[in-house]
Amino acid sequence: MAAAKSFIYKICVVGDGGVGKTSMVLRYCENSFKENYIMTIGSNFSTKQINLDKYPNYLIRLQLWDLAGQKHFSFVRPPFYRGSSATIYTFDLTRRSSFQNILNWKAEVEKVIGDGKPSILVGNKTDLAEQGNREVGEGEGEALKEELKAIAYYETSAKNDLKVSPVFKDVTLAILERTQKI
Ligand code: GTP
Ligand code: MG
Repeated sequence: MAAAKSFIYKICVVGDGGVGKTSMVLRYCENSFKENYIMTIGSNFSTKQINLDKYPNYLIRLQLWDLAGQKHFSFVRPPFYRGSSATIYTFDLTRRSSFQNILNWKAEVEKVIGDGKPSILVGNKTDLAEQGNREVGEGEGEALKEELKAIAYYETSAKNDLKVSPVFKDVTLAILERTQKI
């Protein structure tokens, strides 16, 4: 059997304050959820090993950078984007302004890493959306995904653990397949 190849991928999670970036990463890395909002100051950093059934020979560790989304942190964010292999753009399905801001997030990130890296679009808080609080339609999410040239659009619930791990898996596969030409 060929020797395993190991890689570390840096991925940035961005989007407006309170959309659930920290919650998505916490759900994915530690399988837990916190109801009370503790806004991120600057950045949070987590790592997690990911196993890809399709490529058992690759050992990949994700470095997830979850950046503070509130406006007053905009001046500290750009250096954190450096060296990032992919971006997870996150909005809150129950807050339209967070959806409208995604293109601003794209501009902020691409100013540092350029426009050639894979990205994925996430509408979070499906649990609240299903209770009648939805402000962004699924079709609008799909259309924005096309505009962003993102690899996929997922509607997630960090709270109920819905579709969270496919987000990280898809983005990892996209990085691997683009960089390894497999
Ligand atoms: P900043 O750090 O300020 O940029 O915010 P953030 O995007 O990291 O948001 P965070 O993960 O801290 O979540 C904000 C609030 O939304 C918290 O009270 C979470 O409990 C809540 N939240 C996050 N994800 C979900 C979800 O899927 N469903 C519900 N109902 N609440 C969620
Ligand atoms: Mg946060």
